Amino acid sequence: MKVIQSIEEMKKEMRRHRHERESIGFVPTMGYLHEGHLSLVREAVKRTDCTVVSVYVNPTQFGPNEDFEQYPRDLDKDAEILDEEGVDYLFTPKDSDMYPNEYRTYVEVQDLQDVMCGASRPGHFRGVCTVVMKLFHIVGPDRAYFGQKDAQQAVILKKMVEDLNMDIAISVLPIVREKDGVALSSRNSLLKKEERSAARCLFRSLQLAMEAVRGGKRESSEVVNLIRNEIGKEKSAKIDYIEIVNKNTLESMMEIKQGRTLIALAVYIGKVRLIDNMIV
Ligand code: PAJ
Repeated sequence: MKVIQSIEEMKKEMRRHRHERESIGFVPTMGYLHEGHLSLVREAVKRTDCTVVSVYVNPTQFGPNEDFEQYPRDLDKDAEILDEEGVDYLFTPKDSDMYPNEYRTYVEVQDLQDVMCGASRPGHFRGVCTVVMKLFHIVGPDRAYFGQKDAQQAVILKKMVEDLNMDIAISVLPIVREKDGVALSSRNSLLKKEERSAARCLFRSLQLAMEAVRGGKRESSEVVNLIRNEIGKEKSAKIDYIEIVNKNTLESMMEIKQGRTLIALAVYIGKVRLIDNMIV
């Protein structure tokens, strides 16, 4: 595996692979890799000729009071893991190259960026779209891989690619969970021991919601209340949002419709903000 920091060098390497008519698969990440990331990496390795993974903790998607500094990092370990997975390129650009002092250009996907995580993290998706657009231009992939864990991010990036007529196919792969149901996340490493067990309330409440829907409940407000009650049982948990929305448009749904509805939540466990979701 080649580890590349320079944007120009990355572009040059990718031009060579395109010239040889190889398909390029791309997995953007912020590193501190876990099995969730690796599910995307394995799919890319399996389905494309040349696999590129980026590890870049993107400053523009963190708000001023968020955990950019605390975000966990271990590039050496990430490199070792990716090498074993058969990845061809690890791209690790520098902040000063991605966002030089005179940097001025940002990408926004209107409306979709303002709801759910966007409401509590203003500017977050502008940062995500901007960095992913830049990475897409540098790598020039045929297909890029994202996780359903960040459901809103996947919807927004698909819309960006569609609206801007980009020739990049987007695959969205299922959430990978721990044995106890907690969705894998780099941020789980920031949880203290008691908090880690409290974090189970996200999955537990989603499961309860699914059972209720299976049992015939369709009124969104009732399902939201069920989830709120379940999470309320954890002292260290503070709900940021519980939303029941159309899984493609993110519009609120008063009634749950099988196959079309996304139940998504964000919950603070202590100081750590966790998200989870399920498609009904
Ligand atoms: P990061 O949080 O590192 O996640 C990278 C990719 O892994 C995302 O597509 C995310 O949805 C996926 N992922 C994370 N946890 C997962 C899990 N438990 N199961 C399945 N997939 C999972 O998302 C980002 O980075 C950034 O916003 C990024 C797109 C790289 C832009 O900076």
